[in-house]
Amino acid sequence: MNIPFLSFTAQNNLIEEEIRTAFERVFQNKWYVLGKEVSDFEQAYARYNHVQHCIGVANGLDALHIALKTLDIGKGDEVITPSNTFIATWLAISQTGATIVPVEPDAQTYNIDVDRLAASITPKTKAIMPVHLYGQACRMDAVMQIAQKHNLFVVEDNAQAQGCTYHGKLTGSFGHINATSFYPTKNLGAYGDAGALTTNDAGLAQKANLLRNYGSEKKYYNEVIGVNSRLDELQAAFLSVKLKYLNGWLDERKRIAAAYTEQLSGIPGLILPFTAPGADHVYHLYVVRTTKRNELEEYLNRNGVGTGIHYPVAPHLQKAYQHLGYKKGDFPVAEEIAETCLSLPLNPGMGMDEINYVCRQIHGFFK
Ligand SMILES: Cc1ncc(COP(=O)(O)O)c(C=O)c1O
Repeated sequence: MNIPFLSFTAQNNLIEEEIRTAFERVFQNKWYVLGKEVSDFEQAYARYNHVQHCIGVANGLDALHIALKTLDIGKGDEVITPSNTFIATWLAISQTGATIVPVEPDAQTYNIDVDRLAASITPKTKAIMPVHLYGQACRMDAVMQIAQKHNLFVVEDNAQAQGCTYHGKLTGSFGHINATSFYPTKNLGAYGDAGALTTNDAGLAQKANLLRNYGSEKKYYNEVIGVNSRLDELQAAFLSVKLKYLNGWLDERKRIAAAYTEQLSGIPGLILPFTAPGADHVYHLYVVRTTKRNELEEYLNRNGVGTGIHYPVAPHLQKAYQHLGYKKGDFPVAEEIAETCLSLPLNPGMGMDEINYVCRQIHGFFK
């Protein structure tokens, strides 16, 4: 058998007709950037995410960056974020000139350890940026309580968790202004780059609207120094098609994850995903851990099973962040995750025969 880590085939087959129709509509409309398709998608996504406002932008990194800019975060400010996230979370903070304050994750859920949050707050702290990593919701009740107590903003990085909930409330609707990514591999993925901000604050939404479009509301009149991070009509039209299928695809992701968990539990030396009480997990990724990660990866790849590593190097050890002066051992939980994590194939449309095959190979390796 050959099971790729990523496959769009089943999803594409299901929606091919609708995607072609959407393309044809945009092509014929002859309006390609920030138009009706974008505002229709923004309204649909805001409804889906139970927020008042959605602002479409070019990608998830820009969404995070623009979110911080709407809060006037910049040089001299500190932003707390996990030590074990995808690099974009850190980059967004760097782009504002603010200081990144990494906080270790919980060793079981891999999400920011809220019990360590308060200790990292200083008079310069302006915001907390939790990341719903791999598709599991952070402990948002505790995050919001701490933020409120210390008068901080919260910006959720919801790139990996669209449709996820914490105690029934959707991620991306807790923070003051939040960001998500529609990169093709995401649970809701475009056919190219795309992203969005979500908020219930009309003022912040208005600011994000300006910032994404050169800081301009009226063409050629610029109120603030903005960027060009607009969502195009094609991607918005495609996303509107795919949004209708998202909940079904999330159910499928959960079904595949449950099958993995059932078949893989009890293997000594293999750590399976742990979902915290109250948290939902929409399994953007199914991440297992083992000290024999590299050998397991090599074995699976050799036997036709594609895998991923999310992520092999913790941000503080990246060359790009050398100037911060961190060294190995500074964030041991993040480092251990980076050294031991392995993501299994998880694609809506995956058959039981494929899931069984992956599990058989893993059992074979540990024997
Ligand atoms: C947690 C997280 N934050 C931010 C991003 C950035 O999104 P994008 O690739 O659309 O810039 C991603 C995905 O790539 C991500 O996984």
